[in-house]
Amino acid sequence: CGIVGYVGSDKTLEVLVGGLRRLEYRGYDSAGVAVIDGEGRLATAKKAGKLVKLTDELLAHPINDGGTGIGHTRWATHGGPTDRNAHPHLGDDGRLALIHNGIIENFSALKDELLAEGYTFESETDTEVAAVLLGREYRATGDLRSAFLGVVGQLEGAFTLLAVHQDEPGLVVGARRNSPLVIGLGDGENFLGSDVAAFVEHTRRAMAIGQDQMVAITADAVEVTDFDGEPVETEEFDVAWDAAAGDKGGWPSFMAKEVTEQPDAVANTIRGRIVDGVVDVPELTAFGDEALSAIRRVIIIGCGTAAYAGLVAKYAIENWAGVPVEVELSHEFRYRDPVISDDTLIVSISQSGETMDTLMAVKYAREAGARTLSICNTQGATIPRESDAAIYTHAGPEVAVASTKAFVAQITALYLFGLHLARVRGSLSADQIGEQLAELEAIPAKLSSVLGVGESIRTLAHWMSDTRSVLFLGRHVGYPVAMEGALKLKELAYIHAEGFAAGELKHGPIALIEPGQPVFVIVPSPRHSALLHAKVVSNIQEIRARGARVIAIAEEGDVAVLPFADEVIRIPLAAPLFEPILAVVPLQLFAMELSTAKGLDVDQPRNLAKSVTVE
Ligand code: G6P
Repeated sequence: CGIVGYVGSDKTLEVLVGGLRRLEYRGYDSAGVAVIDGEGRLATAKKAGKLVKLTDELLAHPINDGGTGIGHTRWATHGGPTDRNAHPHLGDDGRLALIHNGIIENFSALKDELLAEGYTFESETDTEVAAVLLGREYRATGDLRSAFLGVVGQLEGAFTLLAVHQDEPGLVVGARRNSPLVIGLGDGENFLGSDVAAFVEHTRRAMAIGQDQMVAITADAVEVTDFDGEPVETEEFDVAWDAAAGDKGGWPSFMAKEVTEQPDAVANTIRGRIVDGVVDVPELTAFGDEALSAIRRVIIIGCGTAAYAGLVAKYAIENWAGVPVEVELSHEFRYRDPVISDDTLIVSISQSGETMDTLMAVKYAREAGARTLSICNTQGATIPRESDAAIYTHAGPEVAVASTKAFVAQITALYLFGLHLARVRGSLSADQIGEQLAELEAIPAKLSSVLGVGESIRTLAHWMSDTRSVLFLGRHVGYPVAMEGALKLKELAYIHAEGFAAGELKHGPIALIEPGQPVFVIVPSPRHSALLHAKVVSNIQEIRARGARVIAIAEEGDVAVLPFADEVIRIPLAAPLFEPILAVVPLQLFAMELSTAKGLDVDQPRNLAKSVTVE
């Protein structure tokens, strides 16, 4: 879910709705706002469906703005996406409103207690329990701050809560445990948001709130305390994102825009980390060279696209740094008693920095004594804060749910990490590292050229718009690319898609091949391994013989695939470990074009949320 809070002038609704628009990627089942109106009364509006339903409602029944408010965009957990279950929820006879992101695990025990006391509920949500509880505390204390502290002490699970009370206009209170919340500092106005995107168009000055902390904002002041009410120190930071980067800027979808931003995402992630031909990732000094040299094992964790970025990087890091690298889904890692010691480095990858599965895995690893490094795209997010060190990808805000530019930026950051590790460990010579760095620096221009395949991909997607199943084959670094291509297609076009290791074909998947079955094959470069290339070309012949329709992604000049492929999509020549960054682009475009051809919502596919802040 996405959360926004504001105190300041009478542009509250504009700030809240604008913030929700930028946070809609976090969930879009329903949306709502609560403001203390010009007459000092609490007014709310909430609607199931996308944000536009709420804005229509606000046009039909305008609220007279009073300068204080909270807003919410929901990804349903407890209770389906209905008007009634949408946030805000009310307490204290409609005088207070509360919004929530996360899951309150002890909500049914609390609800039973409140029901026994005669309180009634309008919704099935865990959130309403917190709202009613806050009402009870408010009656007892008559003070929103202390009532709020009284409530958070009783809740278990993950939550970010924001609340307003009509008897205390000009005040928004918030609290966080295991869910994100950041403060935006303005002039005569202050903001709260699930992430900085919520307010970056109004201010770039921000402050992160720590675990188990509460915040109270008024127009002129921000107070942060722990859950005992003791003041805590907070650090201000400047948001590096360009506010305009969060707008579509004339593109038909955020995804279309973000795919084309990939050359910049890679270039910006490299910037400042290669100095005079030497890789130096300043963020890694937090560990010290000695500790980095002593690392015996790297475990990369992440979910979805982030995990595939990790799988790509495994090939490179092992090759360059000579350290064993395992890649695991965060939720699997967390619950299987993994063997971890202080010479294990956990590298978590998360665009949002908020994915709960990954956050929990990082905390678990840290407690077990591992060192933790976060690869993240969002400043002030929870996972980098909970890690020993963080390398930020500088892809800029990624709004479309299906990840694109963050993926290539994650691979870039991991490659820089791998080469830095190779340098401090002495596993590659300075010249060898220099060659790889030159390859990396050449990637942005190659990415720009591969984007030129867009037109032919569109044609392909159009004639495939009735397709019910698509397979993807890859080998070596092409294997994770195949899985990422399949994931994009599932997410965006709701088509059954699977990515396989080409070598595995004969062990099962080949049984799926029947006449007309479309198969994308990521063909490894023959310049680097004639053997691997030949094996994949044989695979193409095997499936072609059984009627598959083969779309080959192959490097320029690879003519060996021509006799067997129905379509060949060309990518520029690059060193083998760098090919994934280029080969993924046609697959991203294909999923996007197929989704468009089917008339689906490219940016906000059904049932998904960009940042899943529940486990
Ligand atoms: C969700 C999104 C995926 C994304 C994954 C990891 O499942 O739908 O597109 O790859 O989360 O997100 P993260 O923010 O941790 O990179």
